[in-house]
Amino acid sequence: MATNQDFDDRRGDDDADAPRPRSSEISERLKFLAAMFRSPRRVSSVTPTSRQTAVEMARPIDCRSGLPVLELGPGTGPITRAILDRGIAPENLYAIEYSADLCRHLEKAFPGVNIIHGDAFDLDATLAGTGVLLFDCVISGIPLLSFGPGRSNGLLAGALDRVPPGRPMVQITYSAKAPLQPSDPRVRMRRSARIVRNLPPASVWLYSRPD
Ligand SMILES: C[S@@+](CC[C@H](N)C(=O)[O-])C[C@H]1O[C@@H](n2cnc3c(N)ncnc32)[C@H](O)[C@@H]1O
Repeated sequence: MATNQDFDDRRGDDDADAPRPRSSEISERLKFLAAMFRSPRRVSSVTPTSRQTAVEMARPIDCRSGLPVLELGPGTGPITRAILDRGIAPENLYAIEYSADLCRHLEKAFPGVNIIHGDAFDLDATLAGTGVLLFDCVISGIPLLSFGPGRSNGLLAGALDRVPPGRPMVQITYSAKAPLQPSDPRVRMRRSARIVRNLPPASVWLYSRPD
């Protein structure tokens, strides 16, 4: 199981001056741990994504596209927050989370965001009720390494079917390597960020089909 004990800018190497976590952060960490103990393979991490990593995950959004954004596996919501901070209106964000408990938390924490309790590996069924056909990009916190290349390539294909050509699925990983080797030769991949002040470092990968 990967660990992602993140050290973002607010938690410098010298902890003496570091601000203490707010009670909402402590509560989010506890919720995250509870989800991890209930479903270790699906959560596959022991701490929520850091702010710095979440900002890098949201950076590829094209805010001028006018299209909604799809988030997979929002967990306690750090990446959700970074997406909203990019200026995406809550009603233009769709977030699919498998854990019912985390969905309840997300609904309270992010009013107006379309929180969908469902399976990111079955986007046809999970998005059926939304009427949305196209997203600007897909931002995924799903721990792909836990699911194997067959299922993960299925998820990637489903995600790229729902974004315009050239637009990405953004995937986080705590592995030193790419989280997924695409089985589709048309898919390009590149690492867009490496957040070295993580333990272990986190990387953000972009997967897209040609324009
Ligand atoms: C590594 S955690 C990251 C969550 C988030 N970045 C955070 O810091 O709170 C992965 C999340 O993906 C969710 N997840 C795993 N499999 C899923 C699936 N098939 N569909 C939707 N969500 C899933 C888990 O419940 C968990 O909340």
